[in-house]
Amino acid sequence: MQVILTVLGARPQFIKAAPVSRAIAAAGMDEIIVHTGQHFDAQMSDIFFDELDIPKPRYNLSVNSLGHGAMTGRMLEKLEEAMLAEKPDLVLVYGDTNSTVAGALAAAKLHIPVAHVEAGLRSFNRRMPEEINRVVADHVSTLLFCPTRSAVDNLAREGIVAGVHAVGDVMFDTTLAAIERSGERSRIVEALGLAPQSYAIATIHRAENTDDAERFARVIAWLEAAARERPIIMPVHPRTRKLFDARGLAPEGVVLIDPVGYLDMARLLHNAAAVFTDSGGLQKEAYFHRVPCVTLRDETEWVETIEAGWNRLWTGPDYQPRRDIPDYGSGQSAPAIAALLREAI
Ligand code: UD1
Ligand code: UDP
Repeated sequence: MQVILTVLGARPQFIKAAPVSRAIAAAGMDEIIVHTGQHFDAQMSDIFFDELDIPKPRYNLSVNSLGHGAMTGRMLEKLEEAMLAEKPDLVLVYGDTNSTVAGALAAAKLHIPVAHVEAGLRSFNRRMPEEINRVVADHVSTLLFCPTRSAVDNLAREGIVAGVHAVGDVMFDTTLAAIERSGERSRIVEALGLAPQSYAIATIHRAENTDDAERFARVIAWLEAAARERPIIMPVHPRTRKLFDARGLAPEGVVLIDPVGYLDMARLLHNAAAVFTDSGGLQKEAYFHRVPCVTLRDETEWVETIEAGWNRLWTGPDYQPRRDIPDYGSGQSAPAIAALLREAI
């Protein structure tokens, strides 16, 4: 049987992996999940494995809370050991975190083919750690699964054309599965006393927003101004929580809650009037739930959401006229990926 070793570590990777792991099993391949340990709180990790039925990781490398070099380096060393022990036919990585780049590099150095889900995204801002991680992962990958046409074009501009497949966005697969289940299982809208379409959801965690005090203050001031129009519910990422605690900050009018599981998040999004975020995943999910988004960044990789009028940059022009976005597919990206993996190994 063909063996795929999947490297996961951060919240968005669990969410992307859920439908792909299911499709890999359905296609008759064996999957070994290695959790780097990058995200480790129950609300940042375990809850997604439980709610989204992701197979239990065989390894947890417990590497977290370190600088970029130390984190990536330790992951690299431990991932290499796991790959040598398991001898997979292929290594699968997702997105653009330090876990992604460590997984891709460890495999490439052992001459194991690498498949990258969410390949080809570019912000063209090399100050973002995510941009470095994506570029490196793409350049050592043999299979590149792109969620959008623009991602395919970005790779072509860097000379990468072999092994590139436009498969749509696996997060749409996850969202479709969650919408129904969240209606049955999540009561968060009621628990928070929210009337549908009366509130906004906000999330902030990107290093480019949190690590510079002046910039972080601007983001908070923007949210406080927006909260004067309608209540804002903000599930707070641990990186941001640390800053709030360290600086004694509490944005006025913003309801801060702990990070929530995927079903609660889907329900909150489905009933929201607006989304304010610097998250990559949330910009698309806002569109999947047909909620307008403001992205609190100076650029975005998800340019289609801007062009189709569902998203705008906080610094940028107003919304374009609205239309649908065909790129993300029909919720069948994961089976398409599994079929291509099967063909390749
Ligand atoms: C990481 C990714 C980012 C992604 C985000 C998704 C990198 C460089 N960054 O950022 O691209 O958008 O995940 O959420 O890989 N922490 C906890 N508990 C946890 C997780 C983190 O307390 O469960 C704390 C860590 O101790 C650390 C801080 O949060 O102090 C940041 O964690 P880290 O993994 O370095 O980066 P993220 O900001 O989560
Ligand atoms: N998310 C969640 N609970 C939360 C906040 C976010 O389930 O409290 C989900 C969100 O719906 C999206 C994903 O986490 O699917 C986005 O992850 P994150 O913002 O951490 O990372 P990014 O997408 O920016 O890499």
